[in-house]
Amino acid sequence: MEQKKFYITTPIYYPSDKLHIGHTYCTVATDAMARYKRLHGYDVCFLTGTDEHGQKIETKAKEAGVTPKEFVDNIVEGPRGVKDLWKLMNISNDRFIRTTDDYHVASIQKIFKKMYENGDIYKGAYKGKYCTPCESFWTESQLKDGCCPDCGRPVVDAEEEAYFFRLSKYADKVRDLLENTDFLQPRSRVNEMVKNFIDPGLEDLCVSRTSFTWGVPVDFDPGHVVYVWVDALFNYTTALGFLNDKYDDYDHYWPADYHFVGKEIVRFHSIIWPAMLMSMEMPLPKHVFGHGWLLLDGGKMSKSKGNVVDPYILAEKFGVDALRFFLMRTFPFGSDGNFSNELLIQTINTDLANDLGNLLSRTTAMVGKYFGGQLPAGCKTWENPESFDTDLISMASALRGAYEAQMEACAPHNALAEVFKVIQRANKYIDETAPWALAKDMEANGARLAHVLYNLLEATRICGILLTPFMPESMDKLFVQIGASADIQTWDSAAVWGSLSETAAVTKGENLFPRIDMEKAIAELEEAAEAARKAALPAIEVEPQLEEKVDFDTFCKSDFRAVKVKACENVKKSEKLLKFTLDDGTGTDRQILSGIAKYYKPEELVGKTLVAIVNLPPRKMMGQESCGMLISAVHTEKGEEKLHLLMVDDAIPAGAKLC
Ligand code: ME8
Ligand code: MG
Repeated sequence: MEQKKFYITTPIYYPSDKLHIGHTYCTVATDAMARYKRLHGYDVCFLTGTDEHGQKIETKAKEAGVTPKEFVDNIVEGPRGVKDLWKLMNISNDRFIRTTDDYHVASIQKIFKKMYENGDIYKGAYKGKYCTPCESFWTESQLKDGCCPDCGRPVVDAEEEAYFFRLSKYADKVRDLLENTDFLQPRSRVNEMVKNFIDPGLEDLCVSRTSFTWGVPVDFDPGHVVYVWVDALFNYTTALGFLNDKYDDYDHYWPADYHFVGKEIVRFHSIIWPAMLMSMEMPLPKHVFGHGWLLLDGGKMSKSKGNVVDPYILAEKFGVDALRFFLMRTFPFGSDGNFSNELLIQTINTDLANDLGNLLSRTTAMVGKYFGGQLPAGCKTWENPESFDTDLISMASALRGAYEAQMEACAPHNALAEVFKVIQRANKYIDETAPWALAKDMEANGARLAHVLYNLLEATRICGILLTPFMPESMDKLFVQIGASADIQTWDSAAVWGSLSETAAVTKGENLFPRIDMEKAIAELEEAAEAARKAALPAIEVEPQLEEKVDFDTFCKSDFRAVKVKACENVKKSEKLLKFTLDDGTGTDRQILSGIAKYYKPEELVGKTLVAIVNLPPRKMMGQESCGMLISAVHTEKGEEKLHLLMVDDAIPAGAKLC
């Protein structure tokens, strides 16, 4: 029989900032699903990657003083970047696409041209509202309180010559796809899409820009770059080799079985994406699943809000598998969930340290203590089983079916809940059978004790197999401890109670999930967050304040005035000095020399309103008279002295007294 294929994707990430726990959530979910399907015997292709074009990246690169390519290279390939994170999180993607890859760019040009030639892309003029951070165009009616409906930030008016995609033409077909098939999941997202976007009427979509250059050039119309979402969405097909020679799997894997995406990009994946595929006469993906957001204090995590959670810190502190498990176990996949460190630690302590960890360590310890690490032959069967024997065995035997139903429904949190019901059942079985009491009389009860421990090992094995997609490394260690060889770590064997050899070599190994001291860990995390916040600040040193007091009358003798710069020039033969001609409100120009040429160009200062002390006795510098002193702020930053002239509001007239 031909092996069934399964093609699953994550969104390709914007490398505009380092990724946070929200991005990690989606990728871990996709990875768990891909691993589950591989375990289940499917021929799986799992794609992830990065979406590297668009105005936002161009702007960020400019701010950083590097080229856009250098900018994205650093975040994608650099230390603690995207690829490093997926490696750390043990992500098993088969392919990684970067939209700046040559083969992808060439394919996108062909795709754009094809839609142009078939009449679905035409030239027009774009007038509308544009959200720069989201790279999204909106119509007036889509705005929320005049702002971007996705991120709530202000939009700008944009008008330019542009190409349009005939999205309107596909409105009925897309509506049919959404309403009458199970294309978009969970079902609640269908109503959102139809009500918010299709019912009000689909407008044609602007698909090229001329106001910036960081994108795929439209090869038949220089000056235009392809709208970043057209470029991005087709990644799912170019990464398989669609219209390029880099790969050769398009016919094999397309259409995708699942696109996992966050809820704010469901619109792109369930309306625009199928419409463009229809235009290209390509098969549609089977399902798009819109998952929820991880929230922090009830709001969305975002770099600009500064409330992001760093997955590196959590994985390094608590372990990769514990973090993966927490993300999948805690939050129903289709809904939003509130992230907190407390919840993470609590989940690790309850499920992993207490339930699973205890089951494994108690079972293996007892096999060691009572049987020297090897149960006797014959321990698999027992003539007159107790009701709790049958209960445990039937629950564990039925587990694979219950788990499969939940995984197929994209409900990994429920699949894990099923596994933990069996783990809890097994722990209760230890209390019910009281092995330590049986062990008091080995001659009378040794065989019964061996049977009890065999049942515990078997239940642990079955749970271990089904936990593998979520915690691959830890389950490898678990299998070693219970003596389960590779042939009984399989999907098939998960449904066959009694697969474990009666005389398997059992070893109590390291504690897989140590208990975490909540208070201590929270304090350490807060400390780490504080240290990271401090490290991001410029290392500024300011002069210590003077101890000695000055009396009020003495202070009042200093005459500070607002002065306007009429002219400013470098003093000849001096590298340090600037010569200022100032309006001090008296009607007679005042001249002041100041040693700040290193910090300012003279022409920058003309017209500015500064502050000077005007009743210092005049003094000569480089043969010229200086009548007073300009006031500036000084500090040291990363070892370098910095100076800023004190500039005041231009509305303050020259001569105004400062007191
Ligand atoms: O949207 N909780 O990229 P992206 C859950 N380049 N998921 C979250 C999240 C959170 N707090 N924050 C972000 C893009 N995500 C496009 C995709 S696909 C052809 C192009 C999810 O880096 C978000 O919902 O902004 C999205 O699915 C994914 O991270 C990538 O977001
Ligand atoms: Mg986004």
